[in-house]
Order: sequence, then structure tokens, then C-alpha cells
Amino acid sequence: MATSYAGLLADKLESDGEKQQARMIRERLARAPMAVASAQGAGHGHMLGQMPTDNDSRLNTVDYSQPTLETSEVLLPDAIQNRLLEFIQCVEHHDALQRAGAAMPNRVLIYGPPGTGKTQTARWIAARLKLPLLTVRCDTLVSSLLGQTSRNLRRVFDYAQQLPCVLFLDEFDALAGARGNERDIGELQRVVIALLQNMDALPDSTVLVASTNHEQLLDPAIDRRFPFHIPMPIPDTALREGLWRKLLGSYAPDELDWKELASLSEGATGATIEHVSLDAKRSAVLAGQARAQKLVLLRRLGLTLALAKGERLTTTEQEIRWLRAWAQSHFTFRALAALYDLPLRQVQNLLNEDKGSRDGIQEKAEPGKKKRQPK
Ligand SMILES: Nc1ncnc2c1ncn2[C@@H]1O[C@H](COP(=O)(O)OP(=O)(O)O)[C@@H](O)[C@H]1O
Ligand SMILES: [Mg+2]
Repeated sequence: MATSYAGLLADKLESDGEKQQARMIRERLARAPMAVASAQGAGHGHMLGQMPTDNDSRLNTVDYSQPTLETSEVLLPDAIQNRLLEFIQCVEHHDALQRAGAAMPNRVLIYGPPGTGKTQTARWIAARLKLPLLTVRCDTLVSSLLGQTSRNLRRVFDYAQQLPCVLFLDEFDALAGARGNERDIGELQRVVIALLQNMDALPDSTVLVASTNHEQLLDPAIDRRFPFHIPMPIPDTALREGLWRKLLGSYAPDELDWKELASLSEGATGATIEHVSLDAKRSAVLAGQARAQKLVLLRRLGLTLALAKGERLTTTEQEIRWLRAWAQSHFTFRALAALYDLPLRQVQNLLNEDKGSRDGIQEKAEPGKKKRQPK
């Protein structure tokens, strides 16, 4: 509570024109040990002052949340996990490092393709540090009113200094794009300059996390201000297996070959695996089943990967052809007929039309299958 009164005092001093005093209090607050952060209500959503808003839209420009370790678990390759832990250590021991003259600003840039877990990692960092997460909504921040963006930015940075927190600039390439973009160049330059000024005025101890899908678009001056750069890769086979296991959980289909599933999902991000797993879970729950069905899961995965590859599958025939070509051993004629509720003959004709009769002969060779026509 003491910390929140201190924050209010800083507000009051500022409104009385005592900017210097207010700033000193806020700097001290930002340095307050983690224990104070939790004691003052990091776990109870106690906020200081008013949330910053955009004058134009009246929307809040930041989101306040309190992620927990349970809800923000993120699976990453060892080397990257270690790098993140190194960052956490530097934050936790910032004061000692500073006394030794070896401190770095508590800033990390997380970059990588969409869906690889950048936002989730920012949540994990906050949870791990037991600090609230202030996520900057860069879409709202970039105001339609010329000149407002820099003001919005200053409000956000001022606000973040009122309480111990992790300030998270999500997808911040919108703000920090290299000078000389298609958009109004003058405005963009002003935003980049404002961002640099705000970052430079931020105490080194304030934890700043930024994420971007386009690292190459960042202004080099901004890039340099982050001592930690953490790449988020598209998951490899081992990581994909871990993600499937975690996300399907007890809904995993019977007799699922995890290694095969991992290899079939080549190119999938964590977001894709989560999306497909949730879909398969939903189907199971709606069908009153305790586990997902393997073919339902594989079909969803196949169609999602097709979409990601830019395949436009608009008809049932196209879907069937794609699935068959993608994972023939699972999508037999019979399986496809059952999945799409079609006569077996129709599926056979469709696929034999394209690929000659090789698959058809194999299928017909299985005794007893030819005559039965699933409805
Ligand atoms: N490596 C990962 N480990 C755990 N979950 C992940 C991973 N990558 C993605 N996800 C899940 O996918 C969803 C989207 O991830 P997100 O962090 O929003 O991706 P990004 O910010 O990189 O676009 C989240 O719900 C997250 O839990
Ligand atoms: Mg994100």
C-alpha cells in the first residue's frame, strides 16, 4: 500500500508543478524490490492513477494483467530458455549488478514469426518476476490524430513508472519501424524519436519487453537499446511433439503416434498446434467423447497447414485430394468416405481420376471393403 500512496503523492506533486520531485519518487518506486511489488497488491490489481487513454478514440492505450506461471507456460528450445532465464537473473539482481558497475538495462526484444509464442513469453516473464504486465496496445497508441502518438507514448511511459511492472510493447514495429516507411514519414520519424526519448528517460531498472514479427524493420537506434535479443523459432520436431503433448493433454486420441504427428506438423507454429488441439477437443466434447478422434485431429491439421501454405481448398473434392496427398496412410478411401459422409465409390472415383488406379488397386485388394458402402 505504501507504494500506491507514494504513487498518489507523485501524481499530486506533478499536478502542483513539482515535476522533479514527482519523477524522483517514481524512479524510486520503479526500483522498489519485488517483494514490495507483491505486497502492494501486484496480486490484487491495485492500480495507481488513471489508465492512459487515447484522446481521439477514448480507448485505454494499455492493458493491465497479472499472468501466472500456470497460464503462461511456454515451450522453447533449451538455448532460448536459458537466455530468458539469464534475463530474469539480470532483472532480479539488478541492484547488485549496478553496484558492481555491470548492470544492463532490463530490456529484452523478442522477435520471430507470428504464432511462435512472443506474447506468451512476455506473460511468462511477468509471471516469473511476480510483476503485473502492462501491455501497450500499439494499434490504439498510433492515433489517427497527427501528433497524438508521441503524446500517447509519453503517457504510457509515465504511467509505467508509477508502479513496479513489466512494460510490454507488443508488436511494436508499428511504432519503431525504420525511418523512411511508406506512411507519413514525418510522423513516423517523430514517433521513433519520441520512443527513443522515452526509452532513454526510463530508469534502467524498469523491465521493458518488446516483441516484433519484423525485426529487420526496426530502427537500428531502437534495436541497440535492447541488450537482450531473443529469437522465437518455428518449432522443430521435438518441440512440436512437446507442444502436442501439452496442448492435447488427456484428450489425445487413443494409440496416437506422437512422433508421426510431430513430423506431419512440419512448419506448424505453437499457435497452429494450439488452434488444432482446441478444435479437436471441442469436437470431442460436443460428440460426448472423452478423447479426440485421430482422423478429426489430422483432418483439422491438414486443412490448417494447407491454408498456411496458401492452398485455397474451397470444395469437398479439393479437401479430399489434399488430405490424401498429405497423409495417404491415414486418409484411406474408407476413412475419407466416413469423414465426409460420402459413398465409398464416389471417393474412389474422385481419387482414381487424378492419380490413375494405383491407390485404387491397393484399396480394392483389402478383402471385404469393396462392397460395403459407408453411408
Ligand atoms: N512455444 C510455445 N509454447 C507454448 N505455447 C505457445 C508457443 N507458441 C505459441 N503458443 C501458443 O499459441 C498462442 C499464440 O501465441 P502468441 O504468444 O500469441 O504468439 P505471437 O505473439 O508470437 O504471435 C498462445 O496461446 C500460446 O499459448
Ligand atoms: Mg503476439
